Amino acid sequence: MAESSVDQGVVTDADAQRRFRNALAMFATGVAVITAPRAGEVPVGITVASFNSVSLDPPLVLFSVDRRCLSLADLRSAPRYAVNVLAEAQQEISNRFARANSGKWDGIHFGNLGDRHVLLPDTLATFECEPYAMHDGGDHVIFIGRVVRHQARHDGRPLIFFGGKYRALEDSPAAA
Ligand SMILES: Cc1cc2nc3c(=O)[nH]c(=O)nc-3n(C[C@H](O)[C@H](O)[C@H](O)COP(=O)(O)O)c2cc1C
Repeated sequence: MAESSVDQGVVTDADAQRRFRNALAMFATGVAVITAPRAGEVPVGITVASFNSVSLDPPLVLFSVDRRCLSLADLRSAPRYAVNVLAEAQQEISNRFARANSGKWDGIHFGNLGDRHVLLPDTLATFECEPYAMHDGGDHVIFIGRVVRHQARHDGRPLIFFGGKYRALEDSPAAA
């Protein structure tokens, strides 16, 4: 196993940063799109792999957003946001919401939201949240949301991100 030390908690040079990122990429995750309404404009939408559960009581989840993301300011002030967990067939949706300054919502109908959450269709699960806390996460901001409503379907297959690539779940169970 390749070893790399982190100098006093700071990943300085580009090569060390790449090795750190590659090591983190060994943690397989699902993929989600965070959506939030924006007054008078198309909603916020950003692809994340940093979604995770936090607490059952109260029901809390988290995700982190790069400080360079254009959506950050709107997410920080959003009155509510939703986590849309993508299915295997939704790679195009993941790529679309991972592209800044693009027509992320082209062809997607979201209608007049009023005070409703923005939910993407055909996902595996959705978690509608109200903002609970925001924390400094270095070059990211950590969002903790309190789940006010959730839905899930258990017959679908997840989109997986591992080693910097999309993957599909194989049904063979992990060796005991
Ligand atoms: C699979 C995948 C996972 C990602 N995970 C995150 C993440 O957890 N946090 C983050 O800030 N950006 C993440 N990104 C990158 C953002 O989606 C990307 O920077 C996006 O362009 C931000 O949009 P914006 O600049 O319009 O806000 C991810 C991208 C992909 C493809």
